Amino acid sequence: MKTTSDFLKMKAAGEKIVMITAYDYPAAKYAEAAGVDMILVGDSLGMVVLGYDSTVQVTVDDMIHHAKAVRRGAKDTFVVVDMPFGSYHGDPNEALKTGVRMIQESGADALKVEGAGEVLYVIKKLVHAGIPVVAHLGLTPQSVGVLGGYKVQGKTAEQANQLIEDALRCQEAGAMAVVLECIPHQLTEIVSQKLEIPTIGIGAGPEADGQVLVFHDLLRYGNHHIPKFAKEFANVGAQIQKGIEGYKKAVKEGSFPAPEHCFNMKEEELFSIYG
Ligand code: KIV
Ligand code: NA
Repeated sequence: MKTTSDFLKMKAAGEKIVMITAYDYPAAKYAEAAGVDMILVGDSLGMVVLGYDSTVQVTVDDMIHHAKAVRRGAKDTFVVVDMPFGSYHGDPNEALKTGVRMIQESGADALKVEGAGEVLYVIKKLVHAGIPVVAHLGLTPQSVGVLGGYKVQGKTAEQANQLIEDALRCQEAGAMAVVLECIPHQLTEIVSQKLEIPTIGIGAGPEADGQVLVFHDLLRYGNHHIPKFAKEFANVGAQIQKGIEGYKKAVKEGSFPAPEHCFNMKEEELFSIYG
């Protein structure tokens, strides 16, 4: 399994870090078999797996439940788990307790938290307790209400400067990497050059040290809204739809189950049933 120091080396060597989200055992197995560098159990699971319309309904227990399944499917891949909405903004000691519980119960390798400001103290506390932390700046979906929608962030010089400062502060606080979501690619380039720790972009251009995409977006699996920045690498959803429709048709017309799907009883046994 790669470690936090491997990710630093990858950045220094200019080798891109590949991250994908996963929320269950089969997805984690596929991701590990493909050899991705990191898996994120994102709170995006609220939307793509649980059918909520934002990430704010997701609970700590939801995250642990899914992270456990991912861990079982990807024993040799670095797994990061999102701390969900509201779980790290109150008493920092509570945040630490919650973070420790998430790591202990799920077996994941690291946690991810959104934002800087007061969250910097939480990053410091978690890292001090020995938990690697990934920061997340730019579009931070847990703050969608405050941001006023899912919009590109850091477009003005003032916002960009703030983001650069926040990224440097996350690094100082001990973060192992920073996810940059939905920011202009020029800003990604500046932040990536200023930081020693890797940046992992989503909707942030090719200049990031790594990329992350949501499993269900890049494979077109599910019927949630798919953002503009997500490329379709396969259309699994269309295959699933076709498969289920084929099954329905076969049952209705009586072509399934066929003889090869049936179990047989010996004739003499059959005779003794009917006498
Ligand atoms: O929850 C998630 O999937 C994320 C990624 C989009 C970075 O936080
Ligand atoms: Na997330």
